[in-house]
Amino acid sequence: MTTVLLRSPAKLNLSLEVLNKRDDGYHNIRTVFERISLADEMTFRPVREGITIRCDHPQVPLGPTNLIYKAALYLQRVYGVKDGVSVHLRKNIPVAAGLAGGSSNAATTLIALNQLWKLRLSQEQLFQAAAALGSDVAFFLCDTPFALGEGRGERLTPLSIPHRFWHIVIVPRIAMPTPKVYGALNLKLTKKGDNANILLPYLLKSNIEEVRLRLFNDLEQGIVRVCPRLAAIKIRLQTLGIQGVSFSGSGPSLFGLMLSRHEAYEWHDILKRRYRQVFVVQTR
Ligand code: C5P
Repeated sequence: MTTVLLRSPAKLNLSLEVLNKRDDGYHNIRTVFERISLADEMTFRPVREGITIRCDHPQVPLGPTNLIYKAALYLQRVYGVKDGVSVHLRKNIPVAAGLAGGSSNAATTLIALNQLWKLRLSQEQLFQAAAALGSDVAFFLCDTPFALGEGRGERLTPLSIPHRFWHIVIVPRIAMPTPKVYGALNLKLTKKGDNANILLPYLLKSNIEEVRLRLFNDLEQGIVRVCPRLAAIKIRLQTLGIQGVSFSGSGPSLFGLMLSRHEAYEWHDILKRRYRQVFVVQTR
């Protein structure tokens, strides 16, 4: 019996502009996604029928609200699949942290089941499924470490950035529901400049010093309104001397952009005494 084993990586947002609110309740954004080495491990096994998820992480739902379940169910319904699947998830990416772990799991499920169930879906069909499942899912279907995301974040343009960046990622144990963060935004206050295009030339040249100065996230305004303590954590990280500190997605994860692997591990040693969830990651 075939078993498919895949890594399901997390992402960071090096920039995230919120442009406007749409009639469907979503927001148009422009974001630079970066795929990182922090990843879950997923095993897919074909079964006669049904969708079963196994995971020993207490925050991961195992039923129909899990995006893995939704992705499998979508394929069963839209493509008339009768076969089932049993999925084992080894969760390494913190849950509801702004790192898109759930979205990545959904994209990995689409890729795995396309293979396992021999669906022969085109890229277009996979992207259609991704868009139906969530705004961040499509990025993980692109075989690229960096991409510009537009629309809800699901319209993607791969970016050819040769550099592999090192980061330190700090995940405070605070739940940040994405709709609440978007809901707390005052759109009059989001930046109106074309920030991604200002950042991109420095990214392409791998000029880390300049990139560090230009990381930004319009959602920060909503994040600190929902949880003012996160503003204090960001300031504390900056005061310690970490450069290029920014929130990923709708938080609570914060990351710093490092000059080297060495610098990342130095900060890891310092920060792990203060925060329980600190990771050194690289572009992947
Ligand atoms: O697409 P996804 O399910 O990840 O989005 C979760 C929620 O985040 C949406 O229901 C919406 O409230 C908000 N959102 C948004 N604009 C986006 C992405 C997400 O308003 N571009």
